[in-house]
This record gives sequence, C-alpha cells and structure tokens, in this order.
Amino acid sequence: MKEKLELILKNATQEINNAKLLQDLENVKLNYLSRKGELNSIKKNLKDLSDEDKRIIGSLANKVSNELEELIASKSEELYKVELNQKLNKERIDITLPSDVRPQGKVHPLTQTINEIVEIFQGLGFSVMPSEYSPEVETEYINFDMLNFPPDHPAKDMQDTFYTKVAPNVILRSQTSGAQIRQMLNQTPPVRVISPGRVYRCESVSARKNNLFHQIEGLLVDKDITFADLKGILNEFVRIYFGSARPTRFRASYFPFTEPSAEVDVQCIMCGGKGCRTCSGTGWLEVLGSGMVHANVLKNVGIDPEIYSGFAFGMGVERLTMLKYAINDIRLFFNNDIRFLKQF
Ligand code: DAH
Repeated sequence: MKEKLELILKNATQEINNAKLLQDLENVKLNYLSRKGELNSIKKNLKDLSDEDKRIIGSLANKVSNELEELIASKSEELYKVELNQKLNKERIDITLPSDVRPQGKVHPLTQTINEIVEIFQGLGFSVMPSEYSPEVETEYINFDMLNFPPDHPAKDMQDTFYTKVAPNVILRSQTSGAQIRQMLNQTPPVRVISPGRVYRCESVSARKNNLFHQIEGLLVDKDITFADLKGILNEFVRIYFGSARPTRFRASYFPFTEPSAEVDVQCIMCGGKGCRTCSGTGWLEVLGSGMVHANVLKNVGIDPEIYSGFAFGMGVERLTMLKYAINDIRLFFNNDIRFLKQF
C-alpha cells in the first residue's frame, strides 16, 4: 500500500505539472482526491490493516493528499493567470480606430445675435423683461393706441399689420414697442429693461423683407434722464457690437411714441463710408430707432412726465446680423439650409 501511495503521488504530480487548462486540474482532483478517487479507496481499505500499519499508512495517505492539494492550488493559480491573459488578448479593443463622426448642433445665427446683444445691455445695467409682458398676439390698443399712434396712422393699415379673426382689434404685433407699455403698467420707475422677440408685418417677402422678423426693444425711465443718456448708452452699444473703429451718427427722425426721435447710423461696413450699393451711396447704415419717451406715453401708463423721463430704442435682429456678416438675403435665416447655418 505504501508503494501504491507513492505511485499515486508520482502520477498525480506528473499530471498536475503537465496540466494545460484549469479543467485538467479538475480531472486530477476527480481521479485522485474525490470521494471515489484513488486515495479514498486506499483510506477505505485501512480498516483491514493492523493498528500499527493503519497509523503509518493513514498518515502517509494524509500527507500525499495534502501535498497534492497544495500542488493543485499553486498550479491552478498559475493556469488562471495564463487563461486570463489569453482572454484579455483575444478581447482587446483597438481604441485607435476612428469613430463615426456625429455632427454637432449649433445655435441659430439670429439667436446668437440676440444672446450677444442681451449680454451687452446686461453689462450696461439692463435686465431682460419678463416674457409675459411681450405677447406676440397683441391688441391694437397696446401695439398702437397706448404708444400714441393717431387713429388713422398708416402703420395700422391692413397692408402693414396682420389682423386676426380672434376678436376685433387683436393683431400679430407689428413691433416690440408694446412691451414698453406692459412693463410700465406693471412697474414704477426706475425701469431699465430690454425685450427681444418676434414681430409680424404683412408685406411681400423679398431679399430685404420677411413677414416675420425679430426686434429688441429697450426702455429706460427714471428721474433726470436726458438725451445725453440715450446717446451714451446707444453709442456704447454700437461700439461694442460693431467694434470701436466704426463712427456713428444720430439723425433726427419721427416715431409717434418718442419726442424727440433719432435714428442711429453706423458707418457703412462694406465701403467704410465711401458710398456703395449696400449703403445706397450714403456711406451710412441705419441700425436702430430711438428717442425720448413721449409725455403722452408716460401719461397713458400713469407715470408723471413732470417727475420722470426716459428713452426707448428698437432694433432689427435680422438687419444687425446681416450687417455684421455681410448677408445679402434675409430669407436665408428662415430656409434652414444647413450649408448656410453651419457657417456661424
Ligand atoms: N418700433 C419701431 C419700429 O418698429 C422701432 C423703434 C423706434 C422702437 C424708436 C423704439 C423707439 O423704442 O424709441 O420701427
């Protein structure tokens, strides 16, 4: 039996050493160490031996079984590492392969301009008006009457304004100026706000005109506000938006809701003031309308014009974007042609 045990140890050790896979070790365990394995069958026969031999052979069998367990454990650790490495090698991912290119979305150029202008005026102490004060579906009363338009003003004509069937005198607003009225009805001075939004006009679409476009309205009302404040703020805006090298001029104009009124021109960005097609030979481009808030408008909203004064301004977002980037057709903003949009 001693020889048999020594043979088991020799054979099993050899098999363990030769094992290539973890499964081979499992087989060794099964053949030699399991309940039906060779070692156990020897242990079962111990009962037939003398006490003396029982002790010797029993302890030898335990020694062999412990030794084999240890050999299997260390070999199995070794094989586990080998198999893991093989697996990792087989499943390696090549991270240098180029991936699919996913095009990124962009902010629409008109939204970019609005964001830029809002930021400039925020830097000058203005805040953005709550949107509930500037609805696109508006009453004639707010859009015109409260802004001191006389009842027969041509701007109210069907040719300029979209009337609705919702109710008589409900229109799509033709300008953002009505937002001034709603703001002043809801806030006592000091008021210092801007309000970007869409406006609508019933006109035939061309390279220069669309019947939907965007304006940014501005309003500042406080004590002791003068035309000098208007000039200071608007000059600063044009300087930041177009760059400080570009001269501006204030030209007398007329709007029903401001007195005096002025339009602001910037030196033509195409010809630098020499005169070209873009500026119709004048050397100047009109960029916004403005003026001191008319006393009648202040009275209409219950603000005493003897105590308060203010100025207002309005600018076209499409026009400002077209001037900055030399775009010659307003319809490009609305066609959603990706070749145009991705340039911004
Ligand atoms: N609402 C005018 C327009 O659509 C623009 C404008 C001019 C707005 C003068 C103003 C202003 O606030 O003071 O043509």
